Amino acid sequence: MISTDVDLAVERLRAGGLVALPTETVYGLAADARQPDAVARIFAVKGRPTSHPLIVHLADADQIDSWAHDIPAAARTLAAAAWPGPLTMLLQRADDVDDSVTGGRSTIGLRVPSHPIALAVVRGLGGGVAAPSANRFGRVSPTTARHVLADIGDRLDPERDLILDGGPCEVGVESTIVDLTVSPPQVLRAGAITAEVIERLTGDVLGDVSGPSRAAGMLASHYAPNCTVDLTPDRSTAVARLEAHRAAGLRAALIDRTDDLVVAAQRLYGDLRAADTAGVDVLVVVLPPAAGLGHAIRDRLTKAAVGPDPGPTNRVG
Ligand code: TXA
Ligand code: MG
Repeated sequence: MISTDVDLAVERLRAGGLVALPTETVYGLAADARQPDAVARIFAVKGRPTSHPLIVHLADADQIDSWAHDIPAAARTLAAAAWPGPLTMLLQRADDVDDSVTGGRSTIGLRVPSHPIALAVVRGLGGGVAAPSANRFGRVSPTTARHVLADIGDRLDPERDLILDGGPCEVGVESTIVDLTVSPPQVLRAGAITAEVIERLTGDVLGDVSGPSRAAGMLASHYAPNCTVDLTPDRSTAVARLEAHRAAGLRAALIDRTDDLVVAAQRLYGDLRAADTAGVDVLVVVLPPAAGLGHAIRDRLTKAAVGPDPGPTNRVG
């Protein structure tokens, strides 16, 4: 089921199949956004509640107008500066966008990915590609084709679907989500395009994100491995925690990638998955400072540390 054939991937999307594809952030599970039955299968395969909207991936910023209306000037500015790239913008959705994509919301998330394979697929289809991260709902996002295969391979149909292999993802954490339907704009999910960069580009001071969260990635528990994640502020605390866990008879491991946050983001999900594969009980992780890319890494680690959500929506197969 793993392939590098972009033309075949486009063919499968056209025929209503699903294609797991590499983007610069994480692997996505894609369907043609104009085919509600195909979009519905994304939710079934992931075990994701249908109320959680999907990001639509476009080939070019000019296509925004086919998917959204009342587009503020700041959106055009951000699109020109950050696309293709790891930035998702929430805008007022166009009337003909199917409810299956937006979870019935009046807004839509749009982004132009920079990964050449993702771009080639979106261009080849000639329309919008709806794609969440290609993991089971609530669990660790995939950054290689093998991660996708391990997570959802058994739920894909080899006759209709495909996993496109484009190697490991360069960024490693999901796109920044900025809500441009409110004034001032708000960052709902931190990513590689930082709030500081968005403020500089738009000239806006971003709003506080308070009240009930509007992005599903903002759930308390998300990105969760099976092992317990123990977060520590610095290396010496981490070493002490590691020894304490081992003394208590647990299999413990330590990750400290605070010396290079680009690498820390690239490896984050692979590290969490490797801990599970190795049968680790407790993974002690040193948190990076809360600045720049550190915000995105801290966000994912904090949610991973809450552990798997025991609720029924996560019990998928
Ligand atoms: O980097 C990424 O964004 C990756 C790659 C594949 O593009 N995609 C991704 O999708 O992370 P997903 O579905 O795993 O996360 C998107 C988040 C979800 O929490 C979803 O609920 C939220 O964005 N979202 C999407 N559209 C939204 C909307 N109209 N309003 C509020 N939240 C929205
Ligand atoms: Mg996700």
